[in-house]
Amino acid sequence: MQNITIPQLISKYEKIPGGLMPLLHAIQDELGYIPNDVVPNIALGLNLSRAEVHGVITYYHFFRTTPPGKHVIQVCRAEACQACGAEELLSVLESSLNCKRNQTRYDEKITLEAVYCLGLCATSPAVQIDNKLYANVTTEKLKDLFGELEINP
Ligand code: FES
Repeated sequence: MQNITIPQLISKYEKIPGGLMPLLHAIQDELGYIPNDVVPNIALGLNLSRAEVHGVITYYHFFRTTPPGKHVIQVCRAEACQACGAEELLSVLESSLNCKRNQTRYDEKITLEAVYCLGLCATSPAVQIDNKLYANVTTEKLKDLFGELEINP
């Protein structure tokens, strides 16, 4: 549910130096993604070019430009997690969920994303599901979690 409108968010951040990043995060927090059609309004509000805004959105993997699925599953692929089997975990998820990394499944129930460091490096591999972090993740643990969260592969 949308609690605050995009124009309200823009006016909240337009006077803050360096307000673009927090604004983009706020929009994504609110909508789950940053629609392309808000780029001109952001640019206008923050006195930036559309290219500058678009450049920041596309530079950072974190920002989505399309709506995510009902459940967002993020698998860390940074160094510590890579060393502890994150790539294998991601491959298993791709095939068991029938969803390629960085895509949303055809039925829009699942978005699978490769991300870079979730801050749980000492307990790798790390996964985040719908904004909740999980450490020491194995394929067996994921199977249990999917059951608990009613994520049906
Ligand atoms: S490297 Fe994966 S959580 Fe930091």
